[in-house]
Amino acid sequence: MKTTSIQETKNVAKILLRKISAPQNSATLITLSGDLGAGKTTFTQQIGELLEIKEKINSPTFVISKKYKIKSKNFPWKKLIHIDAYRLEREEDLDLIGLLDDLIKTENLIFLEWPEMIEKWLPKENRFNVKLKYIDENTREIKF
Ligand SMILES: Nc1ncnc2c1ncn2[C@@H]1O[C@H](COP(=O)(O)OP(=O)(O)OP(=O)(O)O)[C@@H](O)[C@H]1O
Ligand SMILES: [Mg+2]
Repeated sequence: MKTTSIQETKNVAKILLRKISAPQNSATLITLSGDLGAGKTTFTQQIGELLEIKEKINSPTFVISKKYKIKSKNFPWKKLIHIDAYRLEREEDLDLIGLLDDLIKTENLIFLEWPEMIEKWLPKENRFNVKLKYIDENTREIKF
């Protein structure tokens, strides 16, 4: 799908939310692939708004992982976890940021930027990959 504004990107985020469900045996993992500025953080911000999270979702680049409470009863998850894996390089790093524990809990909806950095340690199940691509200043292609 092509979007030419953040509002349109939000509509695509809405389609994703309708498509996924919470599995019984693990967290829901959404991996976001795409170059710098492709819109991975912006997409997650729109998801946050749709989940009725009041806090502003900012890029987790410096802290690597951020957690937000999902209070809305309209969704099956209780926590949104937003991760930027850009600077992770070892399997121990996943444990350091608590990701291994977070992946077990069904209440977690995890949005992970730069999955390529830790691909070999990520689960293949209960996972959805979103690909974002820069087309021009205001246009992005989003595939899933
Ligand atoms: N159609 C669009 N959809 C989403 N973002 C758009 C769109 N058009 C322009 N933008 C802009 O593109 C930028 C995307 O930046 P963002 O931080 O989301 O990228 P990122 O993929 O998370 O990059 P990084 O790898 O550095 O974390 C934002 O400034 C946003 O306003
Ligand atoms: Mg980002």
